[in-house]
Amino acid sequence: MIKILFVCLGNICRSPTAEGMFRQHLNKAGIRDGYLHNIYIDSAGTGSWHVGKAPDSRSQRTAKKHGLDLSDLRARQVTLQDFVDYDYILAMDKENLNNLKAMAPKNSKAKLELFMNYSENCPGITEVPDPYSGRDDGFERVFNIISRGSEGLLKYIQQKYTL
Ligand code: 4NP
Repeated sequence: MIKILFVCLGNICRSPTAEGMFRQHLNKAGIRDGYLHNIYIDSAGTGSWHVGKAPDSRSQRTAKKHGLDLSDLRARQVTLQDFVDYDYILAMDKENLNNLKAMAPKNSKAKLELFMNYSENCPGITEVPDPYSGRDDGFERVFNIISRGSEGLLKYIQQKYTL
């Protein structure tokens, strides 16, 4: 089984959007995810402030506009066990990637990378910016950036694995 964890700071804006969107991409490609299937995905935050909460209403609204329902997702914090359980831990920005690298235990087997490493046709965009404190149109921009990352990640996964 391939396991992918999407990580941002609060797990209420960027990483749940990436989780929901990548699941939608997988399902549209005929790939089922979950414990009974060959791929399992989840999202988490490096911070703990929003643990247990549903995604930010602005992220939910933006996703809904594009036909994506994030309402069932709940925030959780990254755990040390995640580094053992997951094959890929994909950070939305460099700050979160650095925090993940700093907390990785010795027995970590996960590849720690920027999510946008997998995007195509996105020159110059290496990170998904934090929309939390900005204006509402930041959420639309973040949604579009995550779309590019998800498409690239799907291509990579389909080429590398037989699912
Ligand atoms: P996220 O956005 O990392 O994309 O979920 C944030 C959510 C909450 C906070 C910062 C960023 N916060 O400072 O509470």
